[in-house]
Amino acid sequence: METTLIILKPDAVQRGLCGRIITRFEEKGLQIVGMKLMQISQDLAATHYKDHASKPFYPGLVRFMTSSPVVVMAVRGIGAITICRNMMGATFGSKANPGTIRGDFGVSNSFNLIHGSDGPEAAARELGIFFKAGEVIEFPRASEAWIYDASGGKPE
Ligand code: RTP
Ligand code: MG
Repeated sequence: METTLIILKPDAVQRGLCGRIITRFEEKGLQIVGMKLMQISQDLAATHYKDHASKPFYPGLVRFMTSSPVVVMAVRGIGAITICRNMMGATFGSKANPGTIRGDFGVSNSFNLIHGSDGPEAAARELGIFFKAGEVIEFPRASEAWIYDASGGKPE
């Protein structure tokens, strides 16, 4: 099981798309184990995007991410990190394939609706900076037995 950090960016919140995007993760069979609306501070944006600090798009990215509230989610499932990245689509809305979140809901390259951790190390780091202890709840799901086939001993 993996847990990944998803951020519904300010454009998703302002455009009223959160419900439709969250529904996609629920319908897929992923489990939401943490979720809150929050305003990202300058410090938090800088910590989160520290690997991009030297990039030309960094100042605009921080301005965008701190401009209006976001919804942050902890999303859990087998292979959740890759599944979520595939559901998000390519970085730029203009290039993302139809059927993906960025491909279906946006045309902009910088207002690209959603963030997802890009690997296990990033997921652990990002979940740790956005959620306090106790805010991610790994609770048993009634539908679990019909989401994964556990007949072979290990869910798949
Ligand atoms: P994210 O981190 O937000 O999930 O997106 P990503 O992995 O697909 O893209 P990444 O390379 O990590 O870039 C982080 C965010 O920076 C903005 N960006 N702008 N103008 C540009 O060339 C450019 N490149 C990246 C996007 O908002 C991207 O999501
Ligand atoms: Mg990234």
